[in-house]
Amino acid sequence: MINLHKYPSIFIANWKLNGNLSFLKEYFEKLKVNSNNCTVICPPSIYLNTLININTKSIFVGSQDVSIHKEGAYTGELSSKMLVDNNVNFCLVGHSERRQLFSETNINVKKKCINLIEEKIIPVICIGETLEEKQKNLTEKVLLTQIKESIPVISNDENTIIAYEPIWAIGTGLTPTFEEIDSVHSMIKSIEKKFKNYKILYGGSVKSSNSSKINALQNVDGCLIGGASLKVDEFNIIIS
Ligand code: 13P
Repeated sequence: MINLHKYPSIFIANWKLNGNLSFLKEYFEKLKVNSNNCTVICPPSIYLNTLININTKSIFVGSQDVSIHKEGAYTGELSSKMLVDNNVNFCLVGHSERRQLFSETNINVKKKCINLIEEKIIPVICIGETLEEKQKNLTEKVLLTQIKESIPVISNDENTIIAYEPIWAIGTGLTPTFEEIDSVHSMIKSIEKKFKNYKILYGGSVKSSNSSKINALQNVDGCLIGGASLKVDEFNIIIS
């Protein structure tokens, strides 16, 4: 398993349903990796192997999802064993798009995490509140429930990452204030003693113009980047 604690910052690109073969090759040629930090790219699953095969720049490769099942008659699914077989080191789980559009539940997030950790793949567990929940001051309550129900007992600060992604900040250009981000991260780290040393990433409208300030916050250990990670020049600035 990757030693997360040796990296001051972790940057994860989530390409979602974007990119193609020529995009990927051109992107990789232009990518400038700072090997002091941990940089992970999560392409659509059909390109995982392409990225692994051209990877000469010490990036890590992550999947955007994994099956809750280990093997069997589950058409269309990819197992954690298949991911590790292909040198995938990270996997997003419980992304809000999967929770909202594909009925992902906390129970399934937990099952996925267990399967991944057993294969020494690091789950990046995404949590976050909707705008309505934020406006009703429910952020803490919502995050607590997501954390309690989706993080398995076998998780610890060496084998699991948490990503705080307020749903209303994803793809909207809106972000919480720096103080709000830091205080939510600090709240997560203080839920239980065991969360104190977890790597907690922020995601939601991270771009080159705000990434260094967000990443410099005391309780932020890196960023999970969607749209801006598709522009390699922009992503190069974020990870530099
Ligand atoms: P944006 O960076 O496009 O807001 O997306 C964030 C995200 O969902 C990363 O997982």
